Amino acid sequence: MSNDALTPTPSDKFTFGLWTVGWQGRDPFGDATRPALDPVESVHRLAELGAHGVTFHDDDLIPFGSSAADRDAHIARFRAALDETGMKVPMATTNLFTHPVFKDGAFTSNDRDVRRYALRKTIRNIDLAAELGAEIYVAWGGREGAESGAAKDVRLALDRLKEAFDLLGDYVIEKGYNLRFAIEPKPNEPRGDILLPTVGHALAFINSLEHSEIVGLNPEVGHEQMAGLNFVHGIAQAMFHGKLFHLDLNGQKGPRYDQDMIFGHGDLLSAFFLVDLLEHGGYTGPRHFDYKPFRTEDATGVWASAAANMRSYLLLKERAAAYRADPEVQDALRASRADQLAVPTLGDGEKITDLLADRSAFEDFDPDAFAQRGYNFVQLAQLALEHVLGAR
Ligand code: GCO
Ligand code: MN
Ligand code: MN
Repeated sequence: MSNDALTPTPSDKFTFGLWTVGWQGRDPFGDATRPALDPVESVHRLAELGAHGVTFHDDDLIPFGSSAADRDAHIARFRAALDETGMKVPMATTNLFTHPVFKDGAFTSNDRDVRRYALRKTIRNIDLAAELGAEIYVAWGGREGAESGAAKDVRLALDRLKEAFDLLGDYVIEKGYNLRFAIEPKPNEPRGDILLPTVGHALAFINSLEHSEIVGLNPEVGHEQMAGLNFVHGIAQAMFHGKLFHLDLNGQKGPRYDQDMIFGHGDLLSAFFLVDLLEHGGYTGPRHFDYKPFRTEDATGVWASAAANMRSYLLLKERAAAYRADPEVQDALRASRADQLAVPTLGDGEKITDLLADRSAFEDFDPDAFAQRGYNFVQLAQLALEHVLGAR
């Protein structure tokens, strides 16, 4: 494995949220363990490490409640750092969860005034995102949810959520922004239950929207795994629907609190198959890391963890390529009849009547004989594991 292949460069399209390296380690049980990080420093450090860009919530860049003049100054410093380093801002998002005003959600708060404020806060940052050249606007419904079944009529909340996306879609189209929305599902935390808890729920919701063509998904590894789901399958289905607009890479160990660990440090085999899918499945968007450096770490650990995310990805990318190039894997795939899955079940021009007339498909078909044939999946799974472990 050459060192070059493991050295991140902007062409790898690695991006980081300012809130990731900037996380101070505050959790429900403890105070911050690290000082605040200047976004300008993050831009420089991440550029030095080979990243392509950064992403942000409005409040990561411009502290909540800043005056108009301070806001402009924060933006100007940030822009200068981007210009100096060549770093991009492919995505931006809104913080609709930290301030207590959002304690019952934003677009779906029972309080109509809060909903109107949330739309204004979002539109303000959409303007900035467009100015900075972002093409994706993420919507994570952090506080859109409830703890009690008594608290919220979920059908009405979904009406309001649809109203919000329809309005924001109108706005972006009217303004002529080259911006698409990406909904980020999460099952729970910080709310007891969050609306659009999984990729599947979000896909169905998108179909109900006025401007569904500009609304897709930003699935996060850990969030699907918190729900006990297979993230790679979720990504594959998002791709199938043409809805994989963006994604959040990180690590998670099964259904528990949102761990946001370094990519690859959770379910490693799943991370391997994910990278294989992204690299060979034609995903061209940013490889965005949404993780939290352990709160045990100091600044050295923060930058080491940023580098680790990219190195994990590149290692897995190299392992996936080796797996695919291995002649034994190719034989094993054929033995598994993996190539047959790409062949339509009916022949070219064949009709259902032809299938009904085909005795070999039913009358003469011997289910017992076919049932005896193994699929060779164990060998394939072991070959994958050995490639991941570097044993091949
Ligand atoms: C989480 C979420 C958030 C969102 C981010 C974008 O870990 O619960 O991933 O980090 O991605 O806030 O709005
Ligand atoms: Mn998360
Ligand atoms: Mn995320």
